[in-house]
Amino acid sequence: MTSATSLLFFAIHLAYISTGNSSESFVKLECEEEYRGVYGQQSLLECIVKAVQNVTILTVTWKRVGGDAPLLEYHKHANASTLGFKFAEPSWNKDNMNVSLLLTNTKMADKGEYECMVRTDSGDATATGSLSVTAMYKSPTMSSSPENCIKQNTDVTIFCNSTGGHQKGLIWWFDEFGTNCTGSAELVAKKTDDTLFSLSSKLTVLKATYSGSTNYSCTVHNTNGVQEGKASFEIPFVCSAGSKYDFASDSTTQWLAPVGFIGSLVIGLLAALLIFKRRSVQRHSGHPTDRHHDDEAEGNAILTV
Ligand SMILES: *[C@@H]1O[C@H](CO)[C@@H](O)[C@H](O)[C@H]1NC(C)=O
Ligand SMILES: *[C@@H]1O[C@H](CO)[C@@H](O)[C@H](O)[C@H]1NC(C)=O
Ligand SMILES: *[C@@H]1O[C@H](CO)[C@@H](O)[C@H](O)[C@H]1NC(C)=O
Ligand SMILES: *[C@@H]1O[C@H](CO)[C@@H](O)[C@H](O)[C@H]1NC(C)=O
Ligand SMILES: *[C@@H]1O[C@H](CO)[C@@H](O)[C@H](O)[C@H]1NC(C)=O
Ligand SMILES: *[C@@H]1O[C@H](CO)[C@@H](O)[C@H](O)[C@H]1NC(C)=O
Repeated sequence: MTSATSLLFFAIHLAYISTGNSSESFVKLECEEEYRGVYGQQSLLECIVKAVQNVTILTVTWKRVGGDAPLLEYHKHANASTLGFKFAEPSWNKDNMNVSLLLTNTKMADKGEYECMVRTDSGDATATGSLSVTAMYKSPTMSSSPENCIKQNTDVTIFCNSTGGHQKGLIWWFDEFGTNCTGSAELVAKKTDDTLFSLSSKLTVLKATYSGSTNYSCTVHNTNGVQEGKASFEIPFVCSAGSKYDFASDSTTQWLAPVGFIGSLVIGLLAALLIFKRRSVQRHSGHPTDRHHDDEAEGNAILTV
């Protein structure tokens, strides 16, 4: 070994010891590498100062990586903070090692890298972490056109609307029998302010009747297919006043009434025919007196039909 290389080796060794002896071995900042925030909610960026001995915090600075203005700053007796950013600990002071940052109302724009710097009387520490922000769709609201007093055998359009997602979502439709009707629906996705989406899906039910499905559900899913909301809707065959749609003037009941009349006539005739047959069979059987009472009962039955 030449004297030059041994000197270099010594220098590196010294540098290593000196960094080891300073800040890092006495004071550390324990933060998460990744934080997950939700749009419109609070986000906690947890960072804890860890030291081998009791330390007093001299300064704390939270900023966006690459940003100039600090989001939150503590210098001895003076604080500075940007609106919406504060210490997570409600009454934080210099002896509190929990220097976590709280975003009081997370926005999509808050997504990114954050840096926390702490100076103490025993050394300094810095850490970074990234925040991702997602936004969930709200429970859908449903409506129909026409709004109510829907007549049987007419077409009804049902809407399923939802807002709040940060990516284009999906809406699925199911009838009351669980059949997937998504294929017959039309989805319109629009971007609202702050890069959020609003979804409106419409399903047209052709010739809606009581005998078909009257209850439709829709589910809202994020871009990965994860369900974020659900709603169901009963086709309003009822008027808003609360009275059921008049059956008598209904086209279906109009032709059902004569059918019902003819049907009861046919049943009556069939019953008469049956009894007639049984009587003739009984005449050939062994106990005419017992049977006579039964016949009388059956005769009464026919009269009451
Ligand atoms: C550190 O602080 C705690 C509480 O503030 C105290 O109980 C403890 O004695 C201190 N330790 C040292 C080594 O100063
Ligand atoms: C730090 O403070 C926040 C807010 O009070 C709290 O939610 C979190 O659990 C604390 N972390 C630790 C390790 O105490
Ligand atoms: C500094 O901030 C802490 C915590 O938010 C607060 O309790 C304290 O009163 C502030 N001090 C000054 C000088 O503004
Ligand atoms: C859903 O959106 C459609 C089309 O924008 C609208 O006509 C309907 O009234 C909305 N329904 C609800 C319940 O918001
Ligand atoms: C319903 O139909 C849609 C579109 O055809 C499909 O993407 C979805 O996976 C179906 N959902 C279920 C639960 O079958
Ligand atoms: C419609 O169906 C859903 C389940 O799919 C059910 O929760 C809801 O109560 C039903 N609504 C009515 C009015 O029957």
